[in-house]
Amino acid sequence: MRIPLLSAAWVCILAAVMVHSSALEARLLRADPNAIPGNAALLAFARDRGGALFEAHCAACHGTGGQADAVRGIPALSDPQWLYGTGSVSDIEQIIKYGIRSHHPRGWNLAIMPAYASAQPSARDSKIPPLSPGNIGDLVEYLFQRQGRAADDAAAARGGELFLHAGCYDCHAVDAKGDSAIGAPDLTDAVTLYGDGSRESLVMSIAYGRQGMCPDWVRRINAAGIREVAVFVYSLSHPQGQAGAAAPGSG
Ligand code: HEC
Ligand code: HEC
Repeated sequence: MRIPLLSAAWVCILAAVMVHSSALEARLLRADPNAIPGNAALLAFARDRGGALFEAHCAACHGTGGQADAVRGIPALSDPQWLYGTGSVSDIEQIIKYGIRSHHPRGWNLAIMPAYASAQPSARDSKIPPLSPGNIGDLVEYLFQRQGRAADDAAAARGGELFLHAGCYDCHAVDAKGDSAIGAPDLTDAVTLYGDGSRESLVMSIAYGRQGMCPDWVRRINAAGIREVAVFVYSLSHPQGQAGAAAPGSG
């Protein structure tokens, strides 16, 4: 007599837990994504489930803690610097859904870093000749100077001219601080997406171009799961869960 009673109790508890978590899931989907960090119950629920999804789908590239990997061009997710958007839950959710250069039609239309060791197509359908190794060296001195590091002043002055004439400013902005709307990184800060920030790694980026890709997940993770993993990613740079203003800028 005891056994059936006990298992009936378990079934009830299990059912209650399931009803509770599907109610939370429904609230999560209805919520304004940027209000979730201010709601302790929703935040904890989404972060826990999102952590498991992150482990399964993202950790292979982003590591379990969202750490950067400069060899593979993986940006840190655990710092308040964002290449794309502002770092709000809704912006992160947008990236996870449609990816970065993933060719998903609803993805952001992001720029691609050209390979300047090869000729570049110009607006008039002709080709602009490649930059010489000397030109690229001058550009690197200019970027070093902008980063406040020791540089060859004469070369940096030539590089500054080239930055405007070779069209770098078109994507990275005239002040070289980048444009997160098109995914062009800030070239004046200490954060580098590719390599260790050495002259060699900058030469590699400029000469051979870069085209980092983050897959789109909208066809593989359901809407609740995408929101959960977005909240988890948000929490990596906001360990206290406070809905503080996201730092603008890029890395
Ligand atoms: C058409 C837009 C475009 C132009 C023009 C352009 N870039 Fe870029 N650049 C990008 C994008 C986008 C990235 C980031 C690529 C990625 O995320 O994979 C980038 C990345 C870089 C990086 C690597 C930054 C890092 O954090 O590792 C350097 C260095 C760089 N660009 C320098 C230059 C220089 C110098 C010029 C001019 C000779 C130039 N870029 C012209 C779009 C552009
Ligand atoms: C195949 C490797 C790979 C996988 C898997 C992957 N990513 Fe990415 N992700 C990248 C790369 C590479 C970039 C940087 C792209 C660039 O700018 O060049 C990136 C960028 C991002 C960014 C933007 C960071 C910023 O600074 O703006 C977010 C957010 C992100 N990924 C989240 C995720 C999440 C969440 C998952 C799992 C659902 C995931 N990624 C799975 C490779 C991956």
